[in-house]
Amino acid sequence: MSDFNPKIVAFVCNWCSYAGADKAGALKLNYPANVKLIRVMCSGRVDPQFVMDAYREGADGVMILGCHPGDCHYRTGNVKALKRYKLLKKTLSQFGINDKRLKLDWVAAGEAALFQKVVNDMAETVKELGPLHITGYVEQGGK
Ligand code: FES
Repeated sequence: MSDFNPKIVAFVCNWCSYAGADKAGALKLNYPANVKLIRVMCSGRVDPQFVMDAYREGADGVMILGCHPGDCHYRTGNVKALKRYKLLKKTLSQFGINDKRLKLDWVAAGEAALFQKVVNDMAETVKELGPLHITGYVEQGGK
C-alpha cells in the first residue's frame, strides 16, 4: 500500500487557513500535491453535506481548517464548525467510515509551518487507512 497517495479535500477558511496555505506555498513548504484546497469564507460555512459529497466524489480524507477559537472573522463560525465536526464524526462511524478520515484543525494566516504539519499528518493517517471504497456511504474493508 506504500504507493497509495490519498486524495484529500481540505476546506480552508479565507481569512486564516487559506492564508496559511498561501504562505506555506510562498515559503516552498512541501505538502502532498493531491491535497486539494477548497476556499470558503469561514469554517462555519462548511455544510456537512459538503463533506459527505467529497467522500462520495472520491476523497479518501477531508479536512476543515479554520481560524483559532476567538479569531473567527464571523465571531462564532468556527464554534459552529466544531459542533458540526463532532456530529459528523459520529455520523461517519455510523456509515462505516473511519472517523480518522475527517479532521478539523485551526491554522492562522502566519502559521505556514503548522499548515504543512497538519496536512502532512492527515495525509499520513489516511495513507495508513488505505483507499476509501464506498458503496453509498458505507466503507468496505472494516477500517
Ligand atoms: S473566518 Fe476563519 S473560521 Fe471563521
